[in-house]
Amino acid sequence: MSKRPFIADHPLVQHKVTLLRRKETSSKQFRELIKEITELMVYEATRDLPICDVEIETPMTVTTSKVIAGRKLAFVPILRAGLGMVDGALELIPSARVGHIGMYRDEETLIPHPYYCKLPGDIEERDVVVLDPMLATGGSAVDAIDQIKKRNPRSIKFMCIIAAPEGLKLLTEKHPDVQVYCASLDSHLNENGYIVPGLGDAGDRIFGTK
Ligand code: PRP
Ligand code: URA
Repeated sequence: MSKRPFIADHPLVQHKVTLLRRKETSSKQFRELIKEITELMVYEATRDLPICDVEIETPMTVTTSKVIAGRKLAFVPILRAGLGMVDGALELIPSARVGHIGMYRDEETLIPHPYYCKLPGDIEERDVVVLDPMLATGGSAVDAIDQIKKRNPRSIKFMCIIAAPEGLKLLTEKHPDVQVYCASLDSHLNENGYIVPGLGDAGDRIFGTK
């Protein structure tokens, strides 16, 4: 059975996604919004991290208090647009390692082409969160996760900002063990494979290209 996708309903996330979609939003604002939304999503995606008690001393007394129980994380952005989510993720979990997967979609066929893969050497001991703002046909996410699974990480989550139903269906069919987090589930893909209403080309909007 596939894991039920998490779709954010938090007002802050919804407000920021609206700003992100607007075509007047500048690249600077776009990058800031992606970072902020990622922080809010990482907060949700780390809810299940195990915690344990430690003894500490406050200025008042000795007490037991909670810390995260030594889980090691790795964030793996899919280049290019996933890079926009890395700063927000590391802001919350600075000890995480970062791997990179390079992938671009052929604009005609929409088939993803991998061009780079560098993952942490100790990935077998890590819980991986794959980062990509856009889940459109799902081809890039499925291929990236195929590559990561060959290296046997402890677990994999996939985090995006906008998902199309088509991509969500493919990803949950091909990788039912992967928990998906998205900030918005949109209506559909258009004839060119773009998400509607979406936000356009995320990589171009982050980096000011095109
Ligand atoms: C975008 C996006 C995803 C992919 C999603 O990247 O960042 O990686 O498209 O599409 P899919 O679900 O149909 O595979 P793109 O290929 O445009 O590359 P870029 O990030 O370098 O612009
Ligand atoms: N990639 C994007 O950047 N935007 C889309 O709408 C689909 C794929």
